[in-house]
Amino acid sequence: MEQIKEINQFDIPLARRTHLDNPNSILLKKLLIFSPFLFLLFSTGALLLLKNIEIEPFSNINSQVERNHDHRIFGHLPYREIPKDKLVWIEPNIEVHIDMRDSLLKMREVAKKDGIYLVFLSGYRSVNLQNDIFYSLKSIRNQEAAERARVSAPPGYSEHSTGFAIDIGDATQRETDFETEFENTEAFKWLIKNAAKFHFKLSFTKNNKYIEYEPWHWRYEGSIEALKVFETSKK
Ligand code: DAL
Ligand code: ZN
Repeated sequence: MEQIKEINQFDIPLARRTHLDNPNSILLKKLLIFSPFLFLLFSTGALLLLKNIEIEPFSNINSQVERNHDHRIFGHLPYREIPKDKLVWIEPNIEVHIDMRDSLLKMREVAKKDGIYLVFLSGYRSVNLQNDIFYSLKSIRNQEAAERARVSAPPGYSEHSTGFAIDIGDATQRETDFETEFENTEAFKWLIKNAAKFHFKLSFTKNNKYIEYEPWHWRYEGSIEALKVFETSKK
């Protein structure tokens, strides 16, 4: 009995010392207390890391998909050919969408009153005609498709096939027909000031990144059908 007592005297303080003073145990306790905070800290760090590593490439993929869904070819948007029954002749060689006829003729009439003589150069063009223009001119000029596409739309991609596009010249300066110099004519200056009143808009401005500037090429956006054509082709 005496011996056990002696052993206990040595054991208890020894055991207490082990629990209280072991630096590993203290660290463990501290870890246990702070573990929720540490967990929060690590998961936030991991999330931020994932955001940089994983999400960024994902967003690149998404914008790539958007670009591919744009349906452009060399920067030109696709357009369906307008059915024949929606076309009307306004001159022996110019056919346009019936929706735009009155507005176009009115614009020419008002311009004339202002002393400006507009001449219509090209209206509706079938996909077949656009095919001839694109491929024959491309080979005559020894141009690659991408080069040619800067001035002419590939078949199925021209605003002219919708019947809502019109190329306009100045009757007093025919040498500027289809030329950038058309922008210096009185006709062009008049159009810039007045065309919107008749619902016409310059399609290929100087800011267009794919297609060369075409000061002669205007499109009509004055009917729901026209708006739909140009709106859906942007999607
Ligand atoms: N010249 C314009 C881009 C067209 O061919 O439709
Ligand atoms: Zn044109």
